[in-house]
Amino acid sequence: MTWPAGGGPFAAGRAGTAGLPFAGIPSELQAGVDKLLATEPDHPEPTARFQHARPDPDGARLNLWRLVVRYWPMVLLAGVLVVVETLTLQAAPLLTQIAIDEGISHRQVFVLVGVALVYLISVLVTGLASGARTKVTGRIAAWVMNDLRVRVFTQLQRLSLDFFTEEKAGVIMTRMTSDVENLQQLLQDGLVQFAIQGLTMVVVTVILFAYDVQLALLTVALVVPVLTVLSLWFRSASSRGYTRVRDSIAAVLADLSESLQGVRVVTAHNRQRHNTSRHRAVTGAYFDANVYTGHINAVYGPSTQVVSLVGQLVLLAVGASMVAAGRLSVGELVAFLLYLGAFFQPIQQLVQLYNTYQQGQASVGKLRRLLATEPSVLEAPDAADLPPVHGLIRFAGVSFGYDPHHPVLHGIDLEIAAGETVAFVGPTGAGKSTIAKLVTRFYDPTEGTVLLDGHDLRAVSIESLRRQLGVVPQEPFLFSGTLRDNIRFARPEAGDDAVWEALRAVGLVDVVERMPAGLDTVVQERGQSLSSGERQLVALARAFLAHPRVLVLDEATSNLDLRSETKVEAALDALLESRTALLIAHRLSTAMKADRIVVVDVGRVVEVGTHTELVAAGGLYGQMYRTWTSQAGQSNADPPTPSAP
Ligand SMILES: Nc1ncnc2c1ncn2[C@@H]1O[C@H](COP(=O)(O)OP(=O)(O)OP(=O)(O)O)[C@@H](O)[C@H]1O
Ligand SMILES: [Mg+2]
Repeated sequence: MTWPAGGGPFAAGRAGTAGLPFAGIPSELQAGVDKLLATEPDHPEPTARFQHARPDPDGARLNLWRLVVRYWPMVLLAGVLVVVETLTLQAAPLLTQIAIDEGISHRQVFVLVGVALVYLISVLVTGLASGARTKVTGRIAAWVMNDLRVRVFTQLQRLSLDFFTEEKAGVIMTRMTSDVENLQQLLQDGLVQFAIQGLTMVVVTVILFAYDVQLALLTVALVVPVLTVLSLWFRSASSRGYTRVRDSIAAVLADLSESLQGVRVVTAHNRQRHNTSRHRAVTGAYFDANVYTGHINAVYGPSTQVVSLVGQLVLLAVGASMVAAGRLSVGELVAFLLYLGAFFQPIQQLVQLYNTYQQGQASVGKLRRLLATEPSVLEAPDAADLPPVHGLIRFAGVSFGYDPHHPVLHGIDLEIAAGETVAFVGPTGAGKSTIAKLVTRFYDPTEGTVLLDGHDLRAVSIESLRRQLGVVPQEPFLFSGTLRDNIRFARPEAGDDAVWEALRAVGLVDVVERMPAGLDTVVQERGQSLSSGERQLVALARAFLAHPRVLVLDEATSNLDLRSETKVEAALDALLESRTALLIAHRLSTAMKADRIVVVDVGRVVEVGTHTELVAAGGLYGQMYRTWTSQAGQSNADPPTPSAP
């Protein structure tokens, strides 16, 4: 096989063909592709609608009906097909009766042939109706699932950070996997089988009574009570069982996802054996739950079968005596018994389907709860766009706790002038990152307000606020994709020139030029293929490219070696020029360069001032500085190292 110039299927994507795995479709395959495109359903270009202000409009009222009603013409069609399928399916016993009573007893061959023909047609119609019905419900299910997945994903984009701290990622994943799949099963087959079996029961009951009231009454008296008791037991037992199954599979997935995310730590600390045994425990619970449901099914299925066989036996005896007395024809008895079989089948199926239904409903419940969750950082309904700001930040009596009962910040009053660089220093866990998260409105203060240029952050639209903020978090996150896309994350429309400028600013040019694919280098998931210093530089370049008015740098240079840090600091000086910046730093050498230093301790601002002022005041900062210089020895240009004299 020859590939057109530009490369085979494994040629790297080049500029201009980004996103395509190869440069074009080989001419000999073009015809096939055209044919495929012609038969493919037309997917409209996905249009993303995302608004902070408008949470899922009726997420709180999610139910099965609301999910399918959008596709009501298809639902109606499925309903018609179900009726056709059910009725034609019940023609067989009647035809058998005619064949026996008219054809066989009276030796009428043409009746037999006629019956056989009608039978054939009814089978064909049943088959066609059933095929069409499966296709229609499959479509409905696929549409509904697609809508739902997008809705749930959008909601997850909207929810605030506290939600993701509290919910395990693995459990959130089960919403999108097993819960959505349960629903899919219900919509594709469950509901329609419910309709078919329910309708069959009604039709067959009517037919049974039409054949012989006495026999029909006997049937009802004999089997219905026993079956009812059995079914009621099964219903409650299996509902308990499936709740266990669901909860335990969520636990299995949560454990799996956590140990995958932490695989490096697991390996380093030799926790493999421990983790395996813990996983064994959670899968054990899942196993037990499955054994339990299997056990219930094993009791219920055969018992109902025995009941139905005993019932048929009794009715056969009674019916035979009626035939002997001349009150019933042989054909009628055979038809009655066949219909009786058709009467028992739906009962069993209906109860099994009830499980599918319950699982689907439970999943709807969980999805409803998720869709109805209100983001804790909520956009005000009348939020206006934040106009371009100068960058004056004010904390007015701000208190905050991740858990409202345990405040982490207490009564912070602070003003940061536009264009000023303020360093935040203080012990670990003092609340520095938390202060930064309030500026970016990842959380809202429990008390007091944070103002930007005099605008309460809660009063402006979230998007317009974050557009003017640049954040380099303590643990930068890169996405799987090219370096280029990671750097222009906040400004996807930026050209390569801008990207290179950002790289130059943070001193990454050499590193990128050394990479064989340059800007097209693919960084693996979470940027695992870069060193953590490189990750920080990429995050810095990302912030640089966004040209924000306010920059929040949380330990943005903590993983850099001294030389790189010095290089970045030169760039930072340029970057911070005329922007407001919050610079969180453990290294006092970084903090010293700020216009002012804010010392945070146990959630309070304890000192504010320039480096010289604070050293002279001899408070906490003075202490920190003395420790640092004494450790650094003669040359206080170097930060302390444990081995320093
Ligand atoms: N998502 C969270 N949920 C609950 N508590 C939190 C959360 N994040 C931080 N905390 C707590 O809030 C306090 C302040 O944390 P913060 O991250 O602001 O400290 P920090 O000053 O940035 O520390 P470091 O210098 O180690 O980064 C800590 O006691 C921490 O345990
Ligand atoms: Mg921190």
